[in-house]
Amino acid sequence: MKTTVDPDLCISCAICTNMVPDVFFMNDDGLAEANPGDVPANLEDQVREAAEECPADAILIE
Ligand code: F3S
Repeated sequence: MKTTVDPDLCISCAICTNMVPDVFFMNDDGLAEANPGDVPANLEDQVREAAEECPADAILIE
């Protein structure tokens, strides 16, 4: 699984960075970003939850 954040949609609410800090972080623009590469298998469910919780639907999952 890979995940990315659409910078045009993110409103910096920080739910994702609080829920899954090992995957999501705030970049210098104050927007969430996901670490590149595959999401660790043990964090996949949390990433799916963060995507559901994101009020801007900015988290994409492939
Ligand atoms: Fe942005 Fe959504 Fe995370 S608004 S900070 S991608 S929960």
